[in-house]
Amino acid sequence: MAQVKITETVLRDAHQSLLATRMTTEDMLPILDKMNKVGYHSVECWGGATFDSCLRFLKEDPWERLRTLKKHLPDTKLQMLFRGQNMLGYRHYADDTVEYFVQKSVANGIDIIRIFDALNDIRNLKTAINAAKKEGAHTQVAISYTLGEVFTDEYYVNYAKQIEEAGADSICIKDMAALLTPYATERLVKALKAAVNIPIQVHTHYTSGLASMCLLKGIEAGADIIDTAMSPLALGTSHAPTESMVAALQGTEYDTGLDLVLLTEIRSYFMDLRQKYIDSGLLDPKMLAVDANALIYQVPGGMLSNLLSQLKQAGKADLLTQVLEEVPRVRKDSGYPPLVTPSSQIVGTQAVFNVITGERYKTVTKEFKGIVKGEYGKTPVPIDPEFRKKIIGAEEAIDCRPADLLQPELDKLREECAEWITQEEDVLSYAQFGQVAVKFFEERRNKTYGIDGKHGDSAKQIHPV
Ligand code: CO
Repeated sequence: MAQVKITETVLRDAHQSLLATRMTTEDMLPILDKMNKVGYHSVECWGGATFDSCLRFLKEDPWERLRTLKKHLPDTKLQMLFRGQNMLGYRHYADDTVEYFVQKSVANGIDIIRIFDALNDIRNLKTAINAAKKEGAHTQVAISYTLGEVFTDEYYVNYAKQIEEAGADSICIKDMAALLTPYATERLVKALKAAVNIPIQVHTHYTSGLASMCLLKGIEAGADIIDTAMSPLALGTSHAPTESMVAALQGTEYDTGLDLVLLTEIRSYFMDLRQKYIDSGLLDPKMLAVDANALIYQVPGGMLSNLLSQLKQAGKADLLTQVLEEVPRVRKDSGYPPLVTPSSQIVGTQAVFNVITGERYKTVTKEFKGIVKGEYGKTPVPIDPEFRKKIIGAEEAIDCRPADLLQPELDKLREECAEWITQEEDVLSYAQFGQVAVKFFEERRNKTYGIDGKHGDSAKQIHPV
C-alpha cells in the first residue's frame, strides 16, 4: 500500500520558524552527506525567507548556497517555497521576471517548486506554474489554509480542482498559522483526495501542539506526503519531529521506509547546532512551548510577535488585545484574505493603525489600499463596494490578473544593477531586494567578508570541505 513520503524542512522552514532564518550554509554543510543518504522525498532548503536572510543578514549569496546544497545532496530532490507572482519579494513582478527566476532556480539545483498565492487566486499562479513545468520541475501548488465562514471544504475542493486543471503535479495544504486540527485535517484530506487525482501533501506547524496528530489523521485519510523537521529543530513554531513520525508509521501500511538509526545520527549533529543557537540567543527556548493562542486569535505566530513589536515601538503594548480583536474585522472588510505573507503584514499593520489612532481607517496604509483595490488579486470574498469607495476614493478597482498591468521589466532591472553583476542570477537578487542586494554586492566587491564574488568556486573558498 501507500508508503508515506517525507519532506524534511530543517534547512528552510524549521529555522525560519525558530531562529529567524539564520542557519548559515556553513552550519548545514557537515551533515549534508548523511542527509543525502536518508531517502527523503525531498529536502526543503531554499526560497521563503532564506533568500532575504542570506543577503540581508548572513552576507551569503543565496545562489551560491543553492549550488552548494545541490553539490552535497546529489541524490536528493531539493525543494523551494515560492510566492507565485511575488516570487520571494513583496510586490507583484512582471511575467518575464517570474519566468527568469523559475528558470534560474531550476538551473541552479531546485527540483520541486512549491508555489502559493496569499489570496488563493489561481490567476496569480499561472505564470509560475507554466514556467516550472517548462523547466521540468515538479510543480506543487500550495493552498493557503485559513479559517472563516467562507473557508469550507467545498471552498478548498473548488480551489484544488482549479490547481489540478492548471497543470500542477501535486497539492499541498499549507497551514502556516497552525490552525488545522486532527479531525479537520482528516475531513479536508478526504475531500481533496475524492476531488483530484494528484498527490496531496500536508504542511502544518506545531505551535498549538497538534501537528503530529493532524499529520497522522491526514495520512489515514490518504495524504501522500508530509512535512516534518529533524527533532532538535522541531516542535514549537516549527514542525512535527521527523524521527517520531517515522517511528509512528513503522511496520504499518504507511511505513516511510526511512532508517531511524541514520536519522538519530543526523539528530545528534542538529542537537549540537541547536545548543549553539540557544547559547548565542538566536533560538529562544520559549519558541518551543505549546501556544494555543494561534487557535484563539487565528493569526500566525510570526504575525503575533510582529504586532507586539509594532505596538511596543509605539509605546502601546497594552493595546494588544484590542488589536487582536480588530484583526478579524479588518480581515472581513478586506474580503477575508488568508493571513500569510504579504497579507498577514498588511492586515496586521492596518489593525494596529485602526486601534492606536482611535478611529478605524483614519490612517490607511498604501498596502491596505492596494489589497482593497485589487492590486494583489481577487480576495476570497468580494469586497463591499461602499467600503472600497471609502478606502480608494475615485480610483478604479482592478479586476484583471494584476500582473497583466505590468510591462516586462527584466531589461530595465539589468541596466539598473549592471555595474554590480558578477553572475546572471544577480539581477534576480536585485529585482527582489533592491538596495539590500546592492549593499550585498558592494560588500562582495570589497571582499569585506571573504567571498570573491566570482561564480563557481567561491563555495570552496568559504567552506573548505
Ligand atoms: Co511553514
